Amino acid sequence: MQKLIIHGGTPISGEVQISGAKNAALPILCASLLTGETFRVTNVPSLNDTTTMLSLLEQMGVNISIDKRSEISLTAANLSNLIAPYEMVKTMRAAILVLGPMLARVGEAKVSLPGGCAIGLRPVDQHIKGLQAMGAEISIEHGYIHAKANHLIGAHIIMDIVTVTGTENLMMAATLADGTTILENAAREPEVIDLAECLISMGAKISGAGGDVITIKGVKSLHESTYQVMPDRIETGTFLIAAAASGGEIHIKNTRPDILGVVLDKLNESGAEIEFGKDWINLKVNQRLKSVNLRTAPYPAFPTDMQAQFMVLNSVAEGTAIITETIFENRFMHVLELKRMGACIEVEGNTAVIHGVTNLEGAGVMATDLRASASLVLAGLIAQGETIIDRIYHLDRGYERIEEKLSCLGVRINRIN
Ligand code: UD1
Repeated sequence: MQKLIIHGGTPISGEVQISGAKNAALPILCASLLTGETFRVTNVPSLNDTTTMLSLLEQMGVNISIDKRSEISLTAANLSNLIAPYEMVKTMRAAILVLGPMLARVGEAKVSLPGGCAIGLRPVDQHIKGLQAMGAEISIEHGYIHAKANHLIGAHIIMDIVTVTGTENLMMAATLADGTTILENAAREPEVIDLAECLISMGAKISGAGGDVITIKGVKSLHESTYQVMPDRIETGTFLIAAAASGGEIHIKNTRPDILGVVLDKLNESGAEIEFGKDWINLKVNQRLKSVNLRTAPYPAFPTDMQAQFMVLNSVAEGTAIITETIFENRFMHVLELKRMGACIEVEGNTAVIHGVTNLEGAGVMATDLRASASLVLAGLIAQGETIIDRIYHLDRGYERIEEKLSCLGVRINRIN
């Protein structure tokens, strides 16, 4: 199993180019299932999750060619296999995103139930409820969701909770349904907008994405298109915190400050100096940062995918901060590892209280999930001495060439077997 070794303690400095967004690329790749014509996607990040998604689509019968790095053509002319097997869904829950498009296009799909995962239970009841409202017959057999529909029909769906992939699955299904679908209490995440814009470029009739009511008028078919995936806001935020927590300076290129509002506000509040233009952000830190409280919630509030990274910043900031996690019930697994590096954190239910210390110390630590791994990398690069991070396959699911990018910023980081 591979590990990362980081020799910390040096402020990071330099510039970095942000990759395409994982959470936009995954649903957008699934949109290829909605048409028999060739669909070209650019700015696809090279990650374990995108590779898993491409293998799943290929196994279902999609013809895939990688034109050049990050540019992929997908043709779903003959879909031969309706099944998304457990082996794939258990490594990447986003595999559930094939359900809506398959049902809409070929009238049947069998997708493994994701089950629990490290950060929480993460049920898919809202995906199922929405597809049933559109006329699908759904049964759960041997751990698989088996969905069938001769033809989906538009429906008015009020979602009980805000779910990102739930909104995306139903939006994709509705593009080919008979009549109009209205999704109420929809997720407003920028990745939902990116998927909607991608579907519109393929001929779908969608309005309201980015708000909490999305209207989709079903069309007979979608057509070929080329679409560029948006930049990754979570990768951007992770690099910003790396620079801030290490007391360094960074210039971030190919990003979208307009979708990082609350993250930039919190960094400002902590004392970082930030400037930005349309597609770049500059961050500089001249003094010890101050602790900032935060509470995760659906977009536009603070993203749960940035909670672990911000906890590292608070660990070495001046003062005491309170972080409340409202999205996932078990998303504090990085806390024990950070404590082993000298952080002073108490957890009570879904709240963590972080008392800032002046230094973290390098240690051997274990990555438990994707964003927890990112927090350990950040902790490693600000800690005194050597940090060895085990189980970094979690990190490779969501960060493209992370050690190469960090090396260019002056971090002493190596991967070992
Ligand atoms: C997506 C993101 C993930 C991010 C999360 C929250 C992708 C591929 N992944 O995950 O990185 O952390 O949004 O921003 O985009 N829930 C239900 N029933 C459902 C669906 C969800 O109860 O049918 C609950 C979940 O357990 C969780 C909450 O709703 O507590 C939000 O989950 P959801 O938005 O669905 O997360 P994902 O779409 O899986």
